[in-house]
Amino acid sequence: MPAAMPATFIIFGASGDLTSRKLIPALYRLYHKKRLREGLRVVGFSRSPFTHESWREELAASTAAYVGEAFEPSVWNQFAASLFYHPGDIGDASAFDRLREFLEQIETAPAPRVYYLATAPKFYEPAVEHLARAGLAEETAAPRRVVVEKPFGVDLASARRLNRAIHRAFEERQVYRIDHYLGKETVQNLFVLRFANAIFEPIWNRNYIDHVQITVAEEVGVGKRAGYYDAAGVIRDMFQNHLLQLLMITAMEPPVRWEADSIRNEKVKVLQALRALAPADVAADTLRGQYRGYVEAEGVPSDSRTATFAAVKLSVDNWRWQGVPFYLRSGKRFSCRTTQIVIQFREPPYRLFNSGVNNQCEADRLVIQVQPAEGIQLHFQTKVPDAEMKLRQTDLSFNYRSEYGRPVPEAYERLLLDALEGDASLFARADEVEAAWKACDPILAAWQQHDAPPLLLYEPGYWGPDESAEWMRRQGREWFDTCPVLS
Ligand code: BG6
Repeated sequence: MPAAMPATFIIFGASGDLTSRKLIPALYRLYHKKRLREGLRVVGFSRSPFTHESWREELAASTAAYVGEAFEPSVWNQFAASLFYHPGDIGDASAFDRLREFLEQIETAPAPRVYYLATAPKFYEPAVEHLARAGLAEETAAPRRVVVEKPFGVDLASARRLNRAIHRAFEERQVYRIDHYLGKETVQNLFVLRFANAIFEPIWNRNYIDHVQITVAEEVGVGKRAGYYDAAGVIRDMFQNHLLQLLMITAMEPPVRWEADSIRNEKVKVLQALRALAPADVAADTLRGQYRGYVEAEGVPSDSRTATFAAVKLSVDNWRWQGVPFYLRSGKRFSCRTTQIVIQFREPPYRLFNSGVNNQCEADRLVIQVQPAEGIQLHFQTKVPDAEMKLRQTDLSFNYRSEYGRPVPEAYERLLLDALEGDASLFARADEVEAAWKACDPILAAWQQHDAPPLLLYEPGYWGPDESAEWMRRQGREWFDTCPVLS
């Protein structure tokens, strides 16, 4: 296949929220920045009765709202000329024969295709089955790829079932399971921080690190997503995917090559090394909470026991990380929106300086601000000037926006481009999602039992339940509860 062959990007679930909020704005921005290959076609497929024209008009309005100043009507009009709409029912196998005919009509020559499943998850299986039956998965003339959105199953058994269904239609190398956290610049920068610098590697282990905290805090609540969220809860919604992805990249060994399978081999080993949580461990090593007011949100049952907050202590049983706990937590309706990874170093072996009350001095830490104040800070001790040997922690700081002088791009831009170019490095492999479920299933199961940890109610606008701070204190540690400074 010649490298410059223009591709076709087919979106199932074209009238949905994800398409208008993320996919089309990302494709438009890529077009605007001239990152897309010339001649890309985007085909929307869903049941709504759009024409090409009416779909374009609808997307013009939503894209203008989502991309703000980057929306230029003249650029949009050029881009929109390559948007097509093909109505069809994803549950109807014959609709895929008609789709094939339509694609052959608009493609002047065999073209690589990316099928993007932006539908409700219950349609993933019928979609891949119908794609295969209609001959749309065959790679005789050009590559065929399928992108699968989250949630990928609701537990290990359903994820395995889905993987099997997908593998009946596509080979694993054709499958791109999306986790938008991997498309975030700062998450990719974590690879660079660890593997393009020599100074961090020698200290990135149990000899220097006391523990690691990974926090994904959100200011928003459940909003209008109760239909999905109340059945999912925070473990399925945030831990199985985003938090475990951050854990894998923080804890993995260097891949032998910068190439999809080398990277994913190392990532999955981290999950394989996670110590299995027995029911008694779940009681001691997890906390769950629900923000006050959750049950009043639209669509949430008044007796809902769904957790909107969780904190989990995990151990990675390998040489590098033996004895170093990884504390993962996520919650909605927190004090602020922040995703951060804190590498908490050990204290100096001997305290030479008297640093005030109880001679306490904070140990060094590296704070990786994933969002929204993208950057990295190294917190370390300094001498306060013009005083006796008084110490204070201060920091060396790198900030993306001030350093590079432009906004950090949306995660979907990178991921859509990679799917179009056939680079699966930032997508999850079958074994990876299954291993992630294997880590989460025992927590979900134990939380169903009568002796499960209590569901702690917490006030919106803080850092989760008070017990969470207490739980850390009992372990001689403290959460890094600091909102990022947005300048
Ligand atoms: C999604 C979850 O995957 O990630 C949402 O379903 C959550 O509940 C969102 O709000 C957070 O993404 P981001 O990029 O805003 O951190």
